[in-house]
Amino acid sequence: MEKLKIIGGKRLKGLVSVSGAKNAALPILAAGILTEGTLDLTNVPYVWDILTMLRLLFHIGAEQVILRNGKVAIRIPKVQSSEAPYELVKTMRASVLVLGPLLARNGYAKVSMPGGCAIGERPVNLHIDGLKKLGASIEIEHGYIVARCKKLTGEEFAFERKTVTGTENMIMAAALADGTTKLVNCAMEPEVADLADALNAMGAKIKGAGTDTIEIEGVSSLGSASHRIIPDRIETGTYVMAGALAGERVEIAQCNPSHITALLDKLGEMGISVKAGNENVVVDGTENYKAKDLRTSTYPGFPTDMQAQYMALMTQADGASVITETIFEKRFMHVAELVRMGADITIDGHNAIVKGKTALKGAQVMATDLRASASLVLAALVAEGETVIDRIYHLHRGYEKMDEKLKSLGAHVEKIK
Ligand code: EPU
Repeated sequence: MEKLKIIGGKRLKGLVSVSGAKNAALPILAAGILTEGTLDLTNVPYVWDILTMLRLLFHIGAEQVILRNGKVAIRIPKVQSSEAPYELVKTMRASVLVLGPLLARNGYAKVSMPGGCAIGERPVNLHIDGLKKLGASIEIEHGYIVARCKKLTGEEFAFERKTVTGTENMIMAAALADGTTKLVNCAMEPEVADLADALNAMGAKIKGAGTDTIEIEGVSSLGSASHRIIPDRIETGTYVMAGALAGERVEIAQCNPSHITALLDKLGEMGISVKAGNENVVVDGTENYKAKDLRTSTYPGFPTDMQAQYMALMTQADGASVITETIFEKRFMHVAELVRMGADITIDGHNAIVKGKTALKGAQVMATDLRASASLVLAALVAEGETVIDRIYHLHRGYEKMDEKLKSLGAHVEKIK
């Protein structure tokens, strides 16, 4: 199994370009199910979760699923299979994103029920409630969500709590429903707005995506379109934090700084110099910055997907900080590994108390999920000596060429078997 060896202590400098957003590309690829036409996408990141989604679309009936230089064309003239099998869903729970589109296009979908994962339980009850409200009948049979409908009908549905993929599933289902759907208490993440932009380019009539109320006027069919995926805001934030921790001066290019305002504001409060342009961020690393408490929240608040990386940053801050995770109850798997490297962190329920600044020492550590892996990489960049991170397939799920990007900034990073 592949591991990542990092020798800490190198100061990073130079420019790193951000890839397209995994979590925008996943639902937009699934939206390819809604049309017989061709969806031409650019800026699609070459990461394992995207390859899993392409495998799933191939299984469903997509003709062309080759991703090259960030480009992929999806065309599904006929749905060959309305099933998302367990084998694929168990490796990526975002496979549930095909539920709404399959139901809308075909009147039937059988999608393996996603199980729990390393960051928490992750139920999909709200996806199911919403689709039922549009007229689908849904049963759970032998571990599968089996959904049927004649034709979905526009309705008003209020999410009990904000859910990103739940909002996306509902938008896609409602795009081909009879009449108008109003969704209330929607996730406001930029990835939801990007999905709506792609669907509107295909001929959908969606208003309000990116706010908490979305209106979708159903249309009878959707056609071909071209769309460029937005930059990955979590990858952007990860390199911004790498620059803050280990950088001399790092420029993060081809990004959208307005999507990471919560992080940039925090870094400013700590005394770290970050300058945001229209499409870039320049960070000057410093060894002296203040610890700041953090509470994760839905967009535009501080994303849970950057909490682990932020914790690595706090191990080197002056003073103590309390990091409160409000989205996924178990998302502290990185704590034990950071502690093995010398960090002083204790967990109390949803809070992690980090006491800085502690000297980190290279160690053998284990990646447990995608963002936890990124936090171990950040910690390793400033640790004394050699860190070997095991199970880096987690990193490949969502970060494109992270080792090469860090190397180009001067880090001592090497993939080993
Ligand atoms: N929830 C429910 N019922 C539902 C759906 C969600 O109770 O039917 C709860 C969840 O258990 C969680 C909260 O609502 O406590 C929010 O979950 P959400 O549904 O928003 O998460 P998701 O759509 O499954 C997406 C991202 C995650 C990211 C979360 C939160 C994609 C493909 N995944 O997941 O990304 O952490 O939103 O922002 O968009 C990652 O990229 O590393 C990652 C895990």
